[in-house]
Amino acid sequence: MATGSAAGKAILLGEHAVVYGRPAIAVPLSDLRATAEVCAAAGGDGVCIRALDLGKEYDLAERYADPAAEALQATVRNALAYLGVDATAGGLAITVRSRIPVARGLGSGTAVATAVVRALAQHHGRQLPAPVVSDLVFRTEVILHGAPSGVDNTVVAYERPVWFRRGRAPELLALDGDALVLAIADTGVPANTREAVAAVGARHAADPEGIEARFDAIGALAEAGRAALRGGDMARLGDLMTQNHEHLRALGVSTPALDGIVGAALAAGALGAKLSGGGRGGCAIALTTTTTRDAVAAAMGAAGAVQVHVTEVHTGGARCGVPPPTARIGAPC
Ligand code: PMV
Repeated sequence: MATGSAAGKAILLGEHAVVYGRPAIAVPLSDLRATAEVCAAAGGDGVCIRALDLGKEYDLAERYADPAAEALQATVRNALAYLGVDATAGGLAITVRSRIPVARGLGSGTAVATAVVRALAQHHGRQLPAPVVSDLVFRTEVILHGAPSGVDNTVVAYERPVWFRRGRAPELLALDGDALVLAIADTGVPANTREAVAAVGARHAADPEGIEARFDAIGALAEAGRAALRGGDMARLGDLMTQNHEHLRALGVSTPALDGIVGAALAAGALGAKLSGGGRGGCAIALTTTTTRDAVAAAMGAAGAVQVHVTEVHTGGARCGVPPPTARIGAPC
């Protein structure tokens, strides 16, 4: 049996503005993972995809009025096409599971797609480089979200903190200081990224100059965040995150629940806090320390979070500014 696994993600700085060409910083959540298993199905043709957490089973050849099915089917078709495998010949059973809460801005769909790509590659004796996995999963993101920036598939495929700018090679970031200690609080409200991006798009259409200025300000926070990470200045990074939350509020993608959780995290000693991802639901994240994380997590719970996950982000030792490998789809790997 072949297996693939992929991490969830959180955006530290720059969501929404990143759709409009500004930079963003995202980190993998390596202890929140999706997995996929692929095995040859005994005596059959066709491909069966079981999504255990959804309690659903899809046939690759059928049509379903279900975006999750469409995304999974496209992921499998694109991966098999890249691998040069005929999807109709021989039977395959693909089983996916995820510990990442669905529709909470934590990259659940992205991680599932990444795990499927990796498992299919392994089943066919291949290990695909991160840029290829990222490009393949970007196609799934288009189905899931409409016009994604590409930040989610990038951070999940590399599983490293990334400084991302649309249309450019990502920069892999390293911390010169300690690991990032994050408390991630789930409002319990599903976040629809496509709708959140469309809502910001409507504001942008109504007030292009004002919203572009706000995107510039958010982009400047991401630039400053990269410098703070380089210098290991967590207090500065936290402050930038809190400033970013104010811009997201002004863009209309926060909610009273998110604001309440962010405020509670700050009052309990977080270095910074903000909503993360598309917003209008989903999660708030707080940057804490090993000393304050328990108090911050408890405060976020008391402010209404249905679940708080405390995690550490490590960087694997490479330094800021290391260019990633450049293989893309179509290039030999
Ligand atoms: O998928 P989410 O909810 O984490 O949102 C991704 C971040 C956005 O900037 C809102 C959208 C995008 O494509 O970058």
